[in-house]
Amino acid sequence: MPATIDATAVAALSDEPLDWRYKGLPSRWWGRTPAQVRTSGADPFADGAVGPLCVLRESALAHNLSTMAAWCRDRGVDLAPHGKTHMAPQLLARQFEAGATAVTLATVSQVRTFRAFGVDRVVLANELVDDAGLRWLANELDDDPNFHLVCWVDSVRGVEMMSATLADAGARRALDVCVEVGMAGGRTGCRGDDEVDAVARAAAKSRQLRLVGVAGYEAATGHDVTQEARQLVRGYLREIRGAVDRLATTFQGEEILVSAGGSTYFDVVADELSEWTGVGTVRTVLRSGCYLTHDDGLYGRTSPLAGALRPALTVWAQVTSRPEPELALVTMGRRDVSFDQDLPVPTSLSASAVTKLNDQHAYLRVGPADRDRADVGAWLEFGISHPCTVFDKWQLIPVVDDDGRVVDLVRTFF
Ligand SMILES: Cc1ncc(COP(=O)(O)O)c(C=O)c1O
Repeated sequence: MPATIDATAVAALSDEPLDWRYKGLPSRWWGRTPAQVRTSGADPFADGAVGPLCVLRESALAHNLSTMAAWCRDRGVDLAPHGKTHMAPQLLARQFEAGATAVTLATVSQVRTFRAFGVDRVVLANELVDDAGLRWLANELDDDPNFHLVCWVDSVRGVEMMSATLADAGARRALDVCVEVGMAGGRTGCRGDDEVDAVARAAAKSRQLRLVGVAGYEAATGHDVTQEARQLVRGYLREIRGAVDRLATTFQGEEILVSAGGSTYFDVVADELSEWTGVGTVRTVLRSGCYLTHDDGLYGRTSPLAGALRPALTVWAQVTSRPEPELALVTMGRRDVSFDQDLPVPTSLSASAVTKLNDQHAYLRVGPADRDRADVGAWLEFGISHPCTVFDKWQLIPVVDDDGRVVDLVRTFF
């Protein structure tokens, strides 16, 4: 069943007047609402955008939404896209419309943000031992019987702390949890079968928790896509599968929830964590967040749907200085674009590359073939690597059609 979000609250974002708070947008738009800008078919550059400006391309977004939804349907898996990627209720609404069954989130603050938009199904992909966070969550669950949240547990101590806080808060509904299987050298998650089973048993015994499944994150050690790395991921996913088999009679939900899968190995996850026999009904839930915008870097190289998905998120910036023949400085820096995976890529230049970013400048090494196209004043479009660390630098992002006309403005909440 697709998850829901409050359409009225999402639509209200289009009625908040624009002003100087939103970098890059034309000052001509100040005082107008996103709804007004959208219906006038405005072109941000013709209207006076100042660089840098981050934009989303509508055709790529629509294509990626339907491509991923079709892929999940074919493979018989659900998708709970990671909402930390964009933190944008408008984009999440479209993911739900395309069939996503929940949103995945990383922190209780992120849960609060999406609860403000009435989101009713959440995977909180972490153990929650924050006392105030748990009390808030217990209230939220008790106040709204249609709200469903599952979080993870990876230690007996965590189970005890959560149980004690929820008991003290007088929580009326048990909190659904998945035992998290970790990877040696990875991030959170129980190490080894004995620990997985001990934590699962402790959760099942707690009156405040309900053990509903097993979860993990196969990209905790990186995004290497060599045969060898994919084999290691396969081995890890088989540990998750083994935990489901061992704990089959311990789960307490109507069905067993099994969840893994960021944007690099979701094909391996679907291979290894579907087609179950002898354990009851299993729902396999992927959590990819970056499929939505894809990119020209990390996911362009590693997504199982590379070639099928299209980059939807780019940053435009202007050449402001050409102090040396082979050097252009561009009005885009670490405040505007991701640099944690790869540097941005000038998609319209054939012989140039970004070599360094400062807070507000990009250093572009200009090849001979691009000398004229990277002159002072030229606007250049840059592809990005890793959408999560671009979205968080922009509070309002125009969505443009293939003619560059605004069809929407997307608000983010980081
Ligand atoms: C636990 C967890 N699940 C899912 C994802 C989503 O993966 P991706 O960012 O590759 O889409 C992440 C990303 O960091 C994650 O930490």
